[in-house]
Amino acid sequence: MTLVMGPRTESSVIVEASSVSKRFGNRLAVDQLSLRVSAGVCYGLLGPNGAGKTTTLRMIYGVTRPDSGMIRVFGIDIDRDPRAVRARLGVTLQQNALIEELSAEENLRVFGRYHLLREPELSRRARELIDFFELGSQGRSPVRQLSGGFQRRLAIALSLMNRPELLILDEPTTGLDPALRLALWSRIRDLKAEGATVLLTTHYMDEAQRLCDTVAIICGGKVIDEGAPSDLIAAGLARETVEFDCSPGEESVLLNGISPHPQRLRVGRRLMIYMDDTSSLIEHIRDFDRGQRRSLIVRPTNLEDVFLALTGTSLEGVL
Ligand SMILES: Nc1ncnc2c1ncn2[C@@H]1O[C@H](COP(=O)(O)OP(=O)(O)OP(=O)(O)O)[C@@H](O)[C@H]1O
Ligand SMILES: [Mg+2]
Repeated sequence: MTLVMGPRTESSVIVEASSVSKRFGNRLAVDQLSLRVSAGVCYGLLGPNGAGKTTTLRMIYGVTRPDSGMIRVFGIDIDRDPRAVRARLGVTLQQNALIEELSAEENLRVFGRYHLLREPELSRRARELIDFFELGSQGRSPVRQLSGGFQRRLAIALSLMNRPELLILDEPTTGLDPALRLALWSRIRDLKAEGATVLLTTHYMDEAQRLCDTVAIICGGKVIDEGAPSDLIAAGLARETVEFDCSPGEESVLLNGISPHPQRLRVGRRLMIYMDDTSSLIEHIRDFDRGQRRSLIVRPTNLEDVFLALTGTSLEGVL
């Protein structure tokens, strides 16, 4: 079998940001941030509220200008030729950009015409996206009458209208119901299988772990760690987690019997303890509780643990 590849830019780097900074007044939203997104991957930007994710996506899309640094998309300097870049990408930013007086279908058709789609392809794509996002039930209602979740569906549908080579999604599944969230995940996997590149943000670490080949964890406008979710988990924390409610006082008594002290992380009363084999710890907690069985969750360590450990909560012995 001969595999014929289309022209690829700059050894398959689709997005390249080098030392990009952006200041709003006295707030440094993005601070010397660099990242490279390779062709055909799903790349996730993760970070707490205000970390600089949306600002970074807006600069990559060319609607916010960086104060310094360089951004190339498909090898093109976004500052020099934003139109050439935008024709090849689809975007759903955090704020939906919809024409409120028009129906869902009319929005798709206007957007398709903007991208120079002609009949019958225009109608075919609009219909396919209406079916996929189950927007048909909304009939001819103007967008302003749709619920928040349906407006979000339409915003994502619009970003797919021009069959983008690069899809940028800012918190795409926030506000979507569980069935549509699952459908969107499989759509993203299909797009990737067809060769598209996806750059997304999410606050759902399970979503990032399932979808993303690479994630960058951003805090204070800087990338503080980057890698495959499984590599970040393996590099930072032990394999298993025991999770339970416990006061700081109880914790220090409990840990007295364990040497060396394991990695652990506290969020309020919730304590997570990380060990490669948690069986002896569980026995120790049961002995400590003397027959009063507290509820314990024992689970594999996940990306959320890494995220919390890196972005800050009260930690001890972690990373
Ligand atoms: N247009 C603006 N004017 C002033 N400050 C801004 C503007 N846009 C963003 N900021 C500030 O820049 C910082 C980064 O904001 P940004 O929206 O990029 O964060 P985020 O990581 O997307 O957060 P969230 O998870 O809440 O969406 C914040 O402190 C925010 O208040
Ligand atoms: Mg944001």
